[in-house]
Amino acid sequence: MQQVDIKDLIYLNNAASTWPKPPCVLDAVAQASSLPYLESGRTTLEGLISYPDEGRGALASFFHTGDPHEWIFTSNATDSLNILIHGFAAGKKSPFHVITTELEHNSVIRPLLALKKAGKISLSIIPADSGGHIQPDLICEAITPETRLAVINHGSNVTGAVQDISEICRILHDEELFSIIDGSQTAGQIPIQLSKIPVDAFVFTGHKYLFGIPGTGGFFIRTPESVLSLHQGGTGFDSASPDHPTEMPARFEAGTPNFPGIAALTAGLGYISDIGFDQICRHLEEMSCYLSERLSDLDAVTLYTPNPETPIFSFNITGVDPDDIGMILGRKYHIVTRTGLHCAPWIHQRLTRGLGCVRMSLSFLNTMEQCRFVADSIEELVV
Ligand code: ALA
Repeated sequence: MQQVDIKDLIYLNNAASTWPKPPCVLDAVAQASSLPYLESGRTTLEGLISYPDEGRGALASFFHTGDPHEWIFTSNATDSLNILIHGFAAGKKSPFHVITTELEHNSVIRPLLALKKAGKISLSIIPADSGGHIQPDLICEAITPETRLAVINHGSNVTGAVQDISEICRILHDEELFSIIDGSQTAGQIPIQLSKIPVDAFVFTGHKYLFGIPGTGGFFIRTPESVLSLHQGGTGFDSASPDHPTEMPARFEAGTPNFPGIAALTAGLGYISDIGFDQICRHLEEMSCYLSERLSDLDAVTLYTPNPETPIFSFNITGVDPDDIGMILGRKYHIVTRTGLHCAPWIHQRLTRGLGCVRMSLSFLNTMEQCRFVADSIEELVV
């Protein structure tokens, strides 16, 4: 394998996992790993700090919700989506109807298809319009007397389009349907005020734009009784009971939490809050406008995301395999991208006929200088 000096890397795979992490996040992991775990319920000398309590409080304030106990920690967004989708289905009389969109990631697609294969659900897949948006009218039209659940992508990891979840959740709420929003690509990228959105469950991951480390994620749930818990285990209290507790947050959490991961996530939330979304959005927009303009000028480049609402640039170069482009960008220019279908095969069917493409995804920690180098490098490849 070619050795590249890390300081020469231009890392544009932030939609997969952000890198670098802010120093405060790395410090939090080191500190949480070096201190003894004096967690309430599982030790005789309680708490220097309760990482889960602190983390839940930080999530509630970051996403503007009320009770921190509405927040659950999991190991990632995929874990959250599995808990919610399968837990919801387990509590419902089968079969029922589910609405989803063609923008979904395999973390939504595969649990839903597994339920469909088992004869537990029927499925409507709403197409996006040419700008990558789900028209709320199409959701209204898809609702049937058997519909119980909708699982909707907030920000696409392929197109960067952001859905109007306020309007979509309002429709679903009025029809008394359970809504799950996959916020994996939006949490930390755009301000989200859940108190103003009638969503039932909102899923996030820690290691993307919240700047946490892999192995962290979770969800917010307003009506936990709608979802059966499929996890049972130790909670640190009520140990004599044969039944797993039903109250929040223990309802969905069993076993020892990921203390260093939760500490990192809390630090990441603090980092974003200290900078503020005004500054974050301004910088992301400046880099996005620049790359959009430069890439749109190149005839050989097909840009599938000319005006992304989150900084994702998915493209192909005429006559070249996307994997080859990714390899050249990596080896020659030290630009890290992700090629292929990005775990989102349905939207790729439409955009790239299932052939895949190259994706560059930016975070707040990329720079304009890097964007200029990236645009110059791609230009050099095609002219
Ligand atoms: N969903 C992640 C990505 O888009 C893994 O790369």
